[in-house]
Amino acid sequence: MSMHPPEPFRIKMVEPIHLIQEDERERALQRAGYNIFGLKSDEVYIDLLTDSGTGAMSQDQWGAMMIGDESYAGARSYQRLSSTMDEIFGFRHFVPTHQGRAAENILCAVILKEGQYVPSNMHFDTTEGNIRARGGIPTNLVIIEAFDSESDYPFKGNMDLKKLEEFIKQVGPENIPLGMITITNNAGGGQPVSLENLRAVSEIYHSHEIPFFIDACRFAENAYFIKLREPGYEKKSTLEIAREVFSLADGATMSAKKDAIVNIGGFLAVNDSALFEKICNELILREGYITYGGLAGRDLDAIAVGLMEGLKEEYLAYRLGQTAYFLNELKKQGIPVIEPAGGHAVYIDAGKMLPHIPQAEFPGQSLVVEMYRSGGIRSVELGSVAFAYPDPDTGEMHFPEMELVRLALPRRTYTQSHLDYVVNVLKNITSKKESLSGYRILKAPKLMRHFSATFEPI
Ligand SMILES: Cc1ncc(COP(=O)(O)O)c(C=O)c1O
Repeated sequence: MSMHPPEPFRIKMVEPIHLIQEDERERALQRAGYNIFGLKSDEVYIDLLTDSGTGAMSQDQWGAMMIGDESYAGARSYQRLSSTMDEIFGFRHFVPTHQGRAAENILCAVILKEGQYVPSNMHFDTTEGNIRARGGIPTNLVIIEAFDSESDYPFKGNMDLKKLEEFIKQVGPENIPLGMITITNNAGGGQPVSLENLRAVSEIYHSHEIPFFIDACRFAENAYFIKLREPGYEKKSTLEIAREVFSLADGATMSAKKDAIVNIGGFLAVNDSALFEKICNELILREGYITYGGLAGRDLDAIAVGLMEGLKEEYLAYRLGQTAYFLNELKKQGIPVIEPAGGHAVYIDAGKMLPHIPQAEFPGQSLVVEMYRSGGIRSVELGSVAFAYPDPDTGEMHFPEMELVRLALPRRTYTQSHLDYVVNVLKNITSKKESLSGYRILKAPKLMRHFSATFEPI
């Protein structure tokens, strides 16, 4: 029996997928240098690489795209997105951007100077990259429970308030041009942040006159977690919760490819009018005019409709229920996972699953490769391939706390039987896990090496 509400939609357009033969998968792996980013999508059966831009749009979104207004300035599509933005986020100003990292780039360009700090619970890698690219220093201050895969704390994305206070004192508020928080915390397992914590973070930043920005990619999933888990919010709608969340902040960045369920798009929103003027100038230089920001008019319409659909509670009950179902089925097979279930993905602790493979031989990479080899499933390593780095002085390697493999769930895309298939493949891998070997890197760039490194089996 299904443990979660069934899909609140039926399927009227299908995209065929196909499991190629085992020998073809082996050849594909060799050609790709054992890096799943190098596979062609036709070679993949179930693609759990990311939930970003990979969801299925609704009939209302496709319908809205047909009335997209492609006027260069002041398009009707922009007006429609603008009224949805007012209804949910309530910031005084916003600009569309082509995706989340473009919003981050523009924000950093107008607000950040070299040597300044930007605290957050955990920055996502593009946010971190954009801060560093301007000479800034990103700092992660998430609560300690975030690193305990077995802790069932309900809001493992929360900021450590004591650490935040100490950090501000230590570096001085004048060296912090903005403070952030990511909801839900993608880099920490898609775990939510409570409203109580958001309120306290807002108070701390504001007591030091530091502008507070929210990375809002998964704000709707975060709102539904608050409704489910935070006392006093059971009866509030997700829209009311979202409004309360954003009323605490001075601005937000968002990749609409997540909770707005579109294939491309994002935005940057602020209250401060002087800052907005700078943002507009930068946007016009880099992205496009302020009423389209690097997107087509039809994309703005799809975002406007998707933002509201992403907040629908029967959709969120199914969405978070599906993730929890997937996690529970994996647990039943004895596969070590990060608990409790986050919003958009399940994370397998490959270090625990494959203790015979040392960190230097990438247990997560071994599992990612085996999932593709055994079942045509694409996942992503978030362990030592992605995060280990050599000490600049001694050259000694620093390894991350956990060797994770992320199975991200595209929105409204795969059914329960697809997920049952993935569980079954992992069950078979578990039964022969001692036979899995490690990998060695043949070639890799210095930064973001997981995207393009090549490997060979040891
Ligand atoms: C929390 C978070 N912030 C920012 C981004 C960047 O968004 P984009 O990929 O649209 O540039 C992502 C994308 O995965 C994300 O998960």
